[in-house]
Amino acid sequence: MAQFEKHVFICTQGPYCEFDGDPTAIFDRLKRLVGAHGLNEKIRINKAGCLNQCGHGPMLVVYPEATWYGNVQVDDVEEIVDRHLLNGEVIERLRYIAPPGNNKHVDHYPAEVRAFKDATEEMQKKRAALRQATLAQIQARAQAE
Ligand code: FES
Repeated sequence: MAQFEKHVFICTQGPYCEFDGDPTAIFDRLKRLVGAHGLNEKIRINKAGCLNQCGHGPMLVVYPEATWYGNVQVDDVEEIVDRHLLNGEVIERLRYIAPPGNNKHVDHYPAEVRAFKDATEEMQKKRAALRQATLAQIQARAQAE
Protein backbone atom coordinates (compact mmCIF):
# COMPACT_ATOMS: atom_id res chain seq x y z
CA MET A 1 0.00 0.00 0.00
CA ALA A 2 1.30 3.43 -0.91
CA GLN A 3 1.49 6.25 1.58
CA PHE A 4 -1.75 8.08 2.24
CA GLU A 5 -2.28 11.39 0.47
CA LYS A 6 -4.25 12.83 3.38
CA HIS A 7 -4.72 12.12 7.05
CA VAL A 8 -7.67 13.34 9.06
CA PHE A 9 -7.24 13.26 12.82
CA ILE A 10 -10.34 13.61 14.96
CA CYS A 11 -10.09 14.23 18.68
CA THR A 12 -12.14 11.29 19.91
CA GLN A 13 -10.15 10.55 23.04
CA GLY A 14 -9.58 13.95 24.56
CA PRO A 15 -11.56 14.81 27.67
CA TYR A 16 -13.60 17.72 26.32
CA CYS A 17 -14.51 17.35 22.64
CA GLU A 18 -17.01 14.61 23.34
CA PHE A 19 -18.97 17.12 25.40
CA ASP A 20 -19.11 19.52 22.45
CA GLY A 21 -20.62 17.02 20.04
CA ASP A 22 -20.14 13.40 19.01
CA PRO A 23 -16.58 12.95 17.70
CA THR A 24 -16.93 9.16 17.50
CA ALA A 25 -19.95 9.53 15.23
CA ILE A 26 -17.97 12.08 13.17
CA PHE A 27 -15.14 9.54 12.85
CA ASP A 28 -17.56 6.77 11.86
CA ARG A 29 -19.28 8.91 9.24
CA LEU A 30 -15.98 10.14 7.79
CA LYS A 31 -14.72 6.55 7.51
CA ARG A 32 -17.94 5.42 5.86
CA LEU A 33 -18.05 8.27 3.33
CA VAL A 34 -14.36 8.01 2.44
CA GLY A 35 -14.87 4.28 1.93
CA ALA A 36 -17.98 4.89 -0.16
CA HIS A 37 -15.89 7.08 -2.47
CA GLY A 38 -13.30 4.30 -2.78
CA LEU A 39 -10.62 6.43 -1.14
CA ASN A 40 -9.54 4.21 1.76
CA GLU A 41 -6.08 3.81 0.26
CA LYS A 42 -5.61 7.55 -0.29
CA ILE A 43 -7.24 9.14 2.74
CA ARG A 44 -6.73 7.87 6.26
CA ILE A 45 -9.23 8.76 8.97
CA ASN A 46 -7.69 8.44 12.43
CA LYS A 47 -8.96 8.74 15.95
CA ALA A 48 -6.71 10.98 18.00
CA GLY A 49 -6.18 12.02 21.55
CA CYS A 50 -6.47 15.62 22.65
CA LEU A 51 -5.33 18.05 19.96
CA ASN A 52 -4.69 20.70 22.61
CA GLN A 53 -7.43 23.01 21.40
CA CYS A 54 -9.97 22.01 24.02
CA GLY A 55 -13.13 24.03 24.26
CA HIS A 56 -13.40 24.54 20.50
CA GLY A 57 -14.44 21.03 19.56
CA PRO A 58 -15.23 18.67 18.30
CA MET A 59 -11.87 19.32 16.67
CA LEU A 60 -10.31 17.73 13.62
CA VAL A 61 -7.31 18.47 11.44
CA VAL A 62 -6.56 17.53 7.84
CA TYR A 63 -2.95 16.93 6.77
CA PRO A 64 -0.77 17.58 4.83
CA GLU A 65 -2.45 20.96 4.45
CA ALA A 66 -2.82 21.39 8.23
CA THR A 67 -6.34 22.73 7.98
CA TRP A 68 -8.10 22.68 11.33
CA TYR A 69 -11.84 22.55 11.80
CA GLY A 70 -13.55 23.32 15.09
CA ASN A 71 -17.05 22.83 16.45
CA VAL A 72 -17.59 20.15 13.82
CA GLN A 73 -20.89 18.33 14.05
CA VAL A 74 -21.99 15.10 12.41
CA ASP A 75 -24.07 17.03 9.90
CA ASP A 76 -20.90 18.81 8.68
CA VAL A 77 -19.11 15.62 7.69
CA GLU A 78 -20.58 15.22 4.22
CA GLU A 79 -19.56 18.78 3.36
CA ILE A 80 -16.03 18.18 4.65
CA VAL A 81 -15.74 15.10 2.47
CA ASP A 82 -17.28 16.64 -0.64
CA ARG A 83 -15.67 20.06 -0.52
CA HIS A 84 -12.38 19.51 1.27
CA LEU A 85 -11.30 15.90 0.91
CA LEU A 86 -12.56 15.44 -2.65
CA ASN A 87 -12.04 18.95 -4.01
CA GLY A 88 -9.39 20.60 -1.83
CA GLU A 89 -11.62 23.49 -0.79
CA VAL A 90 -11.27 24.85 2.74
CA ILE A 91 -14.63 25.34 4.47
CA GLU A 92 -14.22 28.75 6.04
CA ARG A 93 -17.26 28.59 8.29
CA LEU A 94 -15.74 25.61 10.12
CA ARG A 95 -12.11 26.63 9.92
CA TYR A 96 -10.31 26.96 13.21
CA ILE A 97 -7.18 29.07 13.42
CA ALA A 98 -5.54 28.71 16.78
CA PRO A 99 -4.73 31.98 18.46
CA PRO A 100 -1.24 32.34 19.86
CA GLY A 101 -0.70 31.19 23.42
CA ASN A 102 -2.78 28.78 25.45
CA ASN A 103 -5.65 27.61 23.29
CA LYS A 104 -7.46 25.58 25.90
CA HIS A 105 -10.68 27.26 27.00
CA VAL A 106 -12.28 24.84 29.40
CA ASP A 107 -13.62 26.98 32.22
CA HIS A 108 -17.15 26.90 30.83
CA TYR A 109 -17.52 23.13 31.25
CA PRO A 110 -19.55 21.99 34.24
CA ALA A 111 -17.86 20.28 37.18
CA GLU A 112 -19.06 16.88 35.94
CA VAL A 113 -16.93 17.24 32.82
CA ARG A 114 -13.85 18.08 34.88
CA ALA A 115 -14.60 15.03 37.05
CA PHE A 116 -14.83 12.94 33.88
CA LYS A 117 -11.44 14.32 32.79
CA ASP A 118 -9.88 13.44 36.14
CA ALA A 119 -11.36 9.93 36.06
CA THR A 120 -10.13 9.44 32.49
CA GLU A 121 -6.61 10.47 33.47
CA GLU A 122 -6.70 8.08 36.41
CA MET A 123 -7.76 5.22 34.11
CA GLN A 124 -4.92 6.07 31.73
CA LYS A 125 -2.43 5.93 34.61
CA LYS A 126 -3.78 2.53 35.67
CA ARG A 127 -3.55 1.28 32.09
CA ALA A 128 0.07 2.44 31.82
CA ALA A 129 0.91 0.73 35.13
CA LEU A 130 -0.78 -2.49 33.97
CA ARG A 131 1.16 -2.35 30.71
CA GLN A 132 4.44 -1.96 32.61
CA ALA A 133 3.56 -4.88 34.88
CA THR A 134 2.67 -7.03 31.88
CA LEU A 135 5.94 -6.20 30.13
CA ALA A 136 7.86 -7.03 33.31
CA GLN A 137 6.09 -10.42 33.51
CA ILE A 138 6.92 -11.18 29.87
CA GLN A 139 10.57 -10.21 30.35
CA ALA A 140 10.84 -12.27 33.57
CA ARG A 141 9.38 -15.32 31.83
CA ALA A 142 11.72 -14.88 28.85
CA GLN A 143 14.75 -14.67 31.16
CA ALA A 144 13.63 -17.80 33.04
CA GLU A 145 13.35 -19.84 29.85
S1 FES B 1 -10.28 17.37 24.15
FE1 FES B 1 -10.40 17.64 21.99
S2 FES B 1 -8.84 19.09 21.61
FE2 FES B 1 -8.61 18.66 23.72
